[in-house]
Amino acid sequence: MPLPQHVRLVEVGPRDGLQNEKQPISVADKVRLVDDLSAAGLAYVEVGSFVSPKWVPQMAGSAEVFAGIRQKPGVTYAALTPNLKGFEAALEAGVKEVAVFAAASEAFSQKNINCSIKESLERFVPVLDAAREHGIRVRGYVSCVLGCPYQGEVDVQQVTAVAAELDAMGCYEVSLGDTIGVGTAGATRAMFEVVGARVPRERLAGHFHDTYGQALANIYASLLEGIAVFDSSVAGLGGCPYAKGATGNVASEDVLYLLNGLGIHTGIDLDALIAAGQRICQVLGKENGSRVARARLAKA
Ligand code: HMG
Ligand code: MG
Repeated sequence: MPLPQHVRLVEVGPRDGLQNEKQPISVADKVRLVDDLSAAGLAYVEVGSFVSPKWVPQMAGSAEVFAGIRQKPGVTYAALTPNLKGFEAALEAGVKEVAVFAAASEAFSQKNINCSIKESLERFVPVLDAAREHGIRVRGYVSCVLGCPYQGEVDVQQVTAVAAELDAMGCYEVSLGDTIGVGTAGATRAMFEVVGARVPRERLAGHFHDTYGQALANIYASLLEGIAVFDSSVAGLGGCPYAKGATGNVASEDVLYLLNGLGIHTGIDLDALIAAGQRICQVLGKENGSRVARARLAKA
């Protein structure tokens, strides 16, 4: 299969990147991050989550963040919504695109959203119905597609079943998440081959955490399978509060460097992206998790 000519990056730094941070981060810093990312040419930014503040305290200010950002025409600003309550809060905040999130692992579903996979899918139906009514697009996530922090191995048939159900429900795209970053290139290709036989590949995306340092290899493997949408996080920020030890998503700068090298067009400015990542790392007092950013900054 030829490599895709265009790839869309879904920037999840402000959500997946920051959700796990224990220290308070001001609304102004979150707003600045989102605006820096859109200015760098990202066409899709996941801004926050409308989840229980008891479960994920860092995302509690998401409505304020939405109110503060400068919405650039042509950019999609999205939020996670686990249920109708979250969807209604997102609607009130003026959100135009949401994402629902399920898992391919029963144990992870319980820990992350406090219900079974089946219950979560049932919970999403009214969200999808309400979204349709309001002309809001819904993206779907499946977590733990290549391994689970609680049950270990995950059956690819279970991944396929959940992805197919989200697709049938009306999610325009389903992002398959290696939540704990244990997948390898071979496992990634095999997974997309199986899931891609049920859900068209142009409606699938890859979401790789980099815990084992395999994310870029897994993205390349996905490109070979015809996948053209990837989630990534500026400066490699993040992790999931319900996946202990999992590190951040693959760094957006590193994915962009890979794609640039392959001549694949994204419309994103690498220098501006590096500056955005460095700025938020300074706010957090953290080392930049992007190898490309570190190399460029060391040279400068
Ligand atoms: P629950 O406790 O079972 O919910 O949590 P409940 O319906 O029984 O309600 C309990 C309380 O939560 C009530 O408040 C509700 O009003 C409130 P109380 O009466 O106690 O004051 N509540 C809410 N508040 C705000 N917004 C809401 C909401 N819903 C209920 N939407 C629930 C169930 C799903 C709410 C909870 O488990 C939750 O919020 N989980 C979110 C976990 C999360 O955000 N995880 C990280 C994102 S997923 C991820 O990172 C993976 C991904 O990146 C892909 C990958 O890497 O694999 C996407
Ligand atoms: Mg994630």
